[in-house]
Amino acid sequence: MSENLWYAVEFSDEISTSPKLLKILSRELVLYRTADGQIQSMSNACIHRGASLAKGSISKDCIVCPYHGWEYQPDGNCVKIPSQSPTSAIPKAAKMNTYPVQEKYGWIWVYVGDKEPVSLPTIPNFPQVESGGLRSIQGKFWWNANYERVLENGLDFAHAPFVHAGAFGNPDAPEIAELVIENYDGGASATVHLAATPPKGLWKLLVKGERAPIRTRTGFFLPNLTFLEVYLPFGLLTIWTAHVPVDLNTTVSKWMNFRNFFTGKWADRDTYNRTIKIFEQDKPIVESQQPQIIPSDLSAELFVPADALQLYYRKLRQLNIGSIDS
Ligand code: FES
Ligand SMILES: [Fe+2]
Repeated sequence: MSENLWYAVEFSDEISTSPKLLKILSRELVLYRTADGQIQSMSNACIHRGASLAKGSISKDCIVCPYHGWEYQPDGNCVKIPSQSPTSAIPKAAKMNTYPVQEKYGWIWVYVGDKEPVSLPTIPNFPQVESGGLRSIQGKFWWNANYERVLENGLDFAHAPFVHAGAFGNPDAPEIAELVIENYDGGASATVHLAATPPKGLWKLLVKGERAPIRTRTGFFLPNLTFLEVYLPFGLLTIWTAHVPVDLNTTVSKWMNFRNFFTGKWADRDTYNRTIKIFEQDKPIVESQQPQIIPSDLSAELFVPADALQLYYRKLRQLNIGSIDS
């Protein structure tokens, strides 16, 4: 697993002035907002006896442990121990680990690592999202699989005719003719033209006659983001997904779907169902993959030209790999 990078971990609208537990990389963090709206993040197990701070409360921007009432301010320092006299010194060691946190594009990003960051890497830009005028919905999807298997599935074109036949995959055209890779800071993308399938449901309203191959671009940003851009004849569909590694064998994909067609609320349910259907089709396959953790040896699995983007991902993550010891 990669460390010392920004992970997109939660939707902004899920963090309030009540503490919330977040599990990532087998660690437990607690997140909350201070009165001015800033997000705070620290380890969840109280330094005193390990009680869950997420079960505590917030008082004047401090998090109050539910067990003995110790209070921690946003920088992690304990400022109150109710069992001792207010004039007694608070031990210097009474300090919680904090994590750098940012909020952007409707997600909360946490910098996960043991090293104190020298300089923080930048969070990726989503130019389309910044351009506005898009309708967006969001959701979560759980997998009993390692996040890198899930992430690589998001970069994989060649499975569409098999796993997604009946959705967007065309079983009569499994060949990936040309895959155009684009490298950028922190990731890479690939563009192909996939054979179209007959539109279904609501989308039938927007398509007339034969459909040309559909330009499709997918890519990633280390450590846990993928995106998919589908240039439909009637508009652009973009899905950004943060694959949150809860632990080695559990992942929750927190996705945001943006569309510039059917921008009314009335089409949200249809869009939601289409997105979930794709994940549901992927789930049994991804959960079946062995080994569950992708091999670090690049020669342990085979790569053909259609797998060029996953190969690039594996090489890049290899440069950023760290050990997770907690
Ligand atoms: S365990 Fe948190 S105050 Fe004692
Ligand atoms: Fe898929």
